[in-house]
Amino acid sequence: MKRIKRLVSLGFILSSVSLALVGCGTDSTTGGEGGGDKKYIVATDATYAPMEYMDDKGNIVGTDIDIINALAEELDIEIEFKNYGWEPLFSAVSSEEVDFAVSSITITDERKETYDFSDPYYFANQLILVPEDSAVTKFEDLKDKRVSVQINTTGHKVVQGLLGKTSSKIVAVESMPMAISEMLNGNADAAIGDNAVILEYKKNNPKVALKTVEDEEFEKEFYGIMVKKGNTEILELLNEGIAKLKENGKLKEITGFDVE
Ligand code: ARG
Repeated sequence: MKRIKRLVSLGFILSSVSLALVGCGTDSTTGGEGGGDKKYIVATDATYAPMEYMDDKGNIVGTDIDIINALAEELDIEIEFKNYGWEPLFSAVSSEEVDFAVSSITITDERKETYDFSDPYYFANQLILVPEDSAVTKFEDLKDKRVSVQINTTGHKVVQGLLGKTSSKIVAVESMPMAISEMLNGNADAAIGDNAVILEYKKNNPKVALKTVEDEEFEKEFYGIMVKKGNTEILELLNEGIAKLKENGKLKEITGFDVE
């Protein structure tokens, strides 16, 4: 009896080891394989509804994901999304752990020093989210307030411009949902982020008494797909795909507007 048990558990260990090995083999498709059946690994921060987020079943979904899937179809390439989170996705691109990143990433001069970006495929601007009874009516009103943002986003930069780069009034956290929580629990007077995401939060939480505040000071931002600097091969491929999606109207079908 004892022996049987031992055999059973040995069998279990062996099968878990082989399962783990199978896991290793199929995943590492970045580079190496060559030829047409390469699978492109795409990093994202899937906490950013409606752009990239997890559905109830744990699938990565959203507008950005639809765009990349449409692009993959145009180019006849295979894609796999991986949820890295916001800050880690930048190093994943630099280290070539992934082929590119899509995550509502605004094309900025600062980022262009370290990364290359595809042609723009979407535009956005910052939007302020405050409690419904807040007296804030414009960006300037946040001058002496605590403001929460997702760390190292364009929203973070914009707030640094108003409050000072190292201001202790800036509550910079890992994700946009966390930034919104900081405002809801009173650690911040306002949250700032990309308009689509702020509006989606408000829409999905009608019982929370919130309002949004726009300001003309917020510049138009363009999203691009981010690749390692100098990776012209992927960049050209992505731009070819984006051009096709613009031409055949599929990009507009997904986003609802033209991006030039
Ligand atoms: N567009 C902003 C930026 O590039 C925020 C993007 C955040 N994206 C995300 N998936 N969390 O800085």
